Amino acid sequence: MPRKPMNFAVLIKTKNVFVLKKTAAIIMEQFDHKNHWENIYQNKALENLSWFEPNAEAALKQFEDLKISKQANIIDIGGGDSLLVDHLINLGFEHITVLDISEEAIIRAQKRLGHLAQKATWIVSDITAFKPTESYDFWYDRAVFHFLTTQKEINQYLEIMFEATSANALASIGTFSLNGPQKCSGITIKQYDEKDLVQTFNTYFERLFCTEINHCTPSLAIQQFIFCSFKKR
Ligand SMILES: C[S@@+](CC[C@H](N)C(=O)[O-])C[C@H]1O[C@@H](n2cnc3c(N)ncnc32)[C@H](O)[C@@H]1O
Repeated sequence: MPRKPMNFAVLIKTKNVFVLKKTAAIIMEQFDHKNHWENIYQNKALENLSWFEPNAEAALKQFEDLKISKQANIIDIGGGDSLLVDHLINLGFEHITVLDISEEAIIRAQKRLGHLAQKATWIVSDITAFKPTESYDFWYDRAVFHFLTTQKEINQYLEIMFEATSANALASIGTFSLNGPQKCSGITIKQYDEKDLVQTFNTYFERLFCTEINHCTPSLAIQQFIFCSFKKR
């Protein structure tokens, strides 16, 4: 379900401290994620985003280690305007879908790619409201799953992922680790260690391997990720 916009008028009228404390929780819950990401992509250049990865090195290593075939149906969850899709097209991957909550991000990626943008499928959707119309053989998610902090959102993601993937599908999920930042793009995220990440996906996906990766941001900060690869049960 898309998140509902917040109603400031009702919240601000009351002077009762207890109610104000409660409303703080409501504001957190109703934080407009789509608007946040549209703003980011309207105002910041790709090279200045903390997750910028010019060579998509971590991603391509997952493709290599999992031996993803050039004919596999691939989806990059929350791909934004990241360069992974450019590298995959160059390498000859034939069926690539990029999904992102931000339309602006998708438009930026399409503009950058020019005529090559036709070689990918583009979907603007909140992943927790995604209605898949095809089956994916490889589900790739770097730094998106960790934004889901409620059990409800996590369950929605897992169910959609299960529904959207083919039998024996592979998946690779990268989140900030327990040694990584507590916020991503200013939003408090859920950190994982290997055990938690494996446990979270365990009902539908079995662990293949996990690895910790240090990402160096454009401002030279180090962010530790945990990446786990899975096979559909
Ligand atoms: C930290 S960035 C990572 C971008 C890209 N995956 C990468 O590693 O370079 C998070 C991306 O996920 C997108 N995003 C955030 N929440 C989302 C959601 N609920 N559904 C789909 N996309 C989402 C954002 O618009 C943004 O492009």
